[in-house]
Amino acid sequence: MTPDEMKRLAAEAALEHVQGGIIGVGTGSTVNHFIDLLAGVKHRIDGAVSSSEASSARLRAHGIEVFELNDVGDLDLYVDGADESNRQLHLIKGGGGALTREKIVAAASRRFVCIADESKLVEVLGAFPLPVEVIPMARSYVARQMVALGGTPRWRESFVTDNGNHILDVHGLEILRPTELEQQINNIAGVVTVGIFALRPADLLILGTPEGTRVVEP
Ligand code: A5P
Repeated sequence: MTPDEMKRLAAEAALEHVQGGIIGVGTGSTVNHFIDLLAGVKHRIDGAVSSSEASSARLRAHGIEVFELNDVGDLDLYVDGADESNRQLHLIKGGGGALTREKIVAAASRRFVCIADESKLVEVLGAFPLPVEVIPMARSYVARQMVALGGTPRWRESFVTDNGNHILDVHGLEILRPTELEQQINNIAGVVTVGIFALRPADLLILGTPEGTRVVEP
């Protein structure tokens, strides 16, 4: 079974958590499957709040109404992918560059269901380079702070986030204490969002595997 088929399995299983109302929808290739499947049950929901322009366009193409988070208040459910998850469901996200809006929608949601293929589950976060969204003028400054933390930052050149900012991908970090590192990086001037989702982890991880889906709870 290919990784893409495993992603689709996880996305199918997440549909069971859709009870109605307005659904928080993340970003990425796994969520794209979820959006396509959501289209089949769109009569059951009122619409979606999206974490990126790309997901908004895909939702609208399926005839699913996209709402502004400011207009709808807290959400019951957020469904999104991840680049890595540990067993506590602390995540690395932002491989697609949508981490800031993803973190906002996750924060505003009562339940966060994460969907991924089985390769995303790791013992220790950090093999996937940690994305950090920065205000453009702070890029070099933040990069030096990342070096001081033991990482090797690389500027994701030619990429601008939906918020007009830049991304540093920080290689070589072994993230043993995700909540502490999330807070530490959040406190650096010029950082908009760090791609560690540990202060608000996922509540449920659905992994697609060649044998079917597997659910991990913290
Ligand atoms: C987007 O910025 C990311 O956080 C994605 O959720 C993450 O990269 C997972 O993407 P895939 O589902 O494409 O693996």
